[in-house]
Amino acid sequence: MKKILVTGGAGYIGSHALVSLIEQGFTPVIVDNLRNSDIKVVDRIAQITGVRPEAHIADIRDERALRQLFADYQFDAVIHFAGLKAVGESVAQPQRYYHNNVGGSLSLFSVMAEHDCYRLVFSSSATVYGVPESVPINETAPLCATNPYGHSKLMIEQVLHDLAEADSRWQISLLRYFNPISAHSSGLIGEDPDGVPNNLMPYISQVGIGRLKQLSVYGDDYDTPDGTGVRDYIHVVDLASAHSKALLALDVDHGCQAYNIGTGRGYSVLEMVQAFERASGQVINYQVRARRPGDIATCYADTRKSAEQLAWRAEFDLDAMMRDLWRWQSNNPSGYK
Ligand code: NAD
Ligand code: UD1
Repeated sequence: MKKILVTGGAGYIGSHALVSLIEQGFTPVIVDNLRNSDIKVVDRIAQITGVRPEAHIADIRDERALRQLFADYQFDAVIHFAGLKAVGESVAQPQRYYHNNVGGSLSLFSVMAEHDCYRLVFSSSATVYGVPESVPINETAPLCATNPYGHSKLMIEQVLHDLAEADSRWQISLLRYFNPISAHSSGLIGEDPDGVPNNLMPYISQVGIGRLKQLSVYGDDYDTPDGTGVRDYIHVVDLASAHSKALLALDVDHGCQAYNIGTGRGYSVLEMVQAFERASGQVINYQVRARRPGDIATCYADTRKSAEQLAWRAEFDLDAMMRDLWRWQSNNPSGYK
């Protein structure tokens, strides 16, 4: 298994996965509409790996363009990152999210089957667990979504379970990411959010570099050790390596399997602020404010299934995550712009 189509491969996680795939001897080909990414990332991947991946600018809802790609390359498998991911935006524009995420996925799966390509790794999210009944969360926990973005992930998971049920040729991994952060250690690729970041670490790093003035800490009255929310933050390079492991595991795993991709350990907002300050030498100005609607107190993964069945585990600790995040942010204060 060599030739891999990577939808959304120019994006934050996709670009790190490209580096990992190239290093593991795969030949990844990007398809991306650049809605939330910059084509410069291809040069950066080439700088890191010495290999320039082929990149096609197209929308995955464009089935004609997809058919042409499958005819040209005869892909062995697909890693499907392409999607919109901003929770707040999904509440305001549900139609756009369902059309892009669910519609785009349906087009992709049809074209895959037309071309006898049945191996797929799909980017799902810990958001499918909704408000967890207990932590750590394992893959058999009840699923529930609280916003259109989360619903789109759950719908696609359901479609994939049904495809695998109907046709035993499908070999599918659903990777449920916890909280990806940080950047490649070269400082050449990283997260470059459009506008003001919604997520904690890009917000903190933009305060660190002086683009934003103050972090709002959303609530210090949760039932957690210091009252602030606890999450399972994972280095994006660790997350990226889970994809090559998942591809290899498809050789033995049939059907549709879900895997948690996290570290298995949670950190609070204030612990993240302190760790960033240690790594960057910057002081993060913050103020505690009201809870953000829809947030939960604590979320971290039970990672036993991915360790046992994918032979994968996260390696980078919090200090490494902060060091690499700061290198990316300070080398690229305005992202790719
Ligand atoms: P990203 O926005 O950086 O990357 C997604 C890429 O897909 C972008 O390059 C975008 O231009 C492209 N894209 C979007 N719609 C497309 C379409 N219709 N056709 C072609 N390309 C399209 O996001 P990311 O953080 O790299 O996330 C990748 C995947 O992982 C997404 O599916 C996201 O929902 C999922 N995920 C992300 C996180 C996270 O915190 N970053 C957490 C859990 C799951
Ligand atoms: C968010 C998404 C979720 C997605 C996940 C991974 C929301 C509501 N949920 O979850 O769907 O799967 O990212 O990308 O957007 N925080 C602050 N100040 C900030 C930003 C965040 O205090 O400016 C706190 C939050 O309250 C939370 C923690 O930091 O306790 C992490 O927040 P965030 O990075 O947005 O991730 P999630 O809420 O886990």
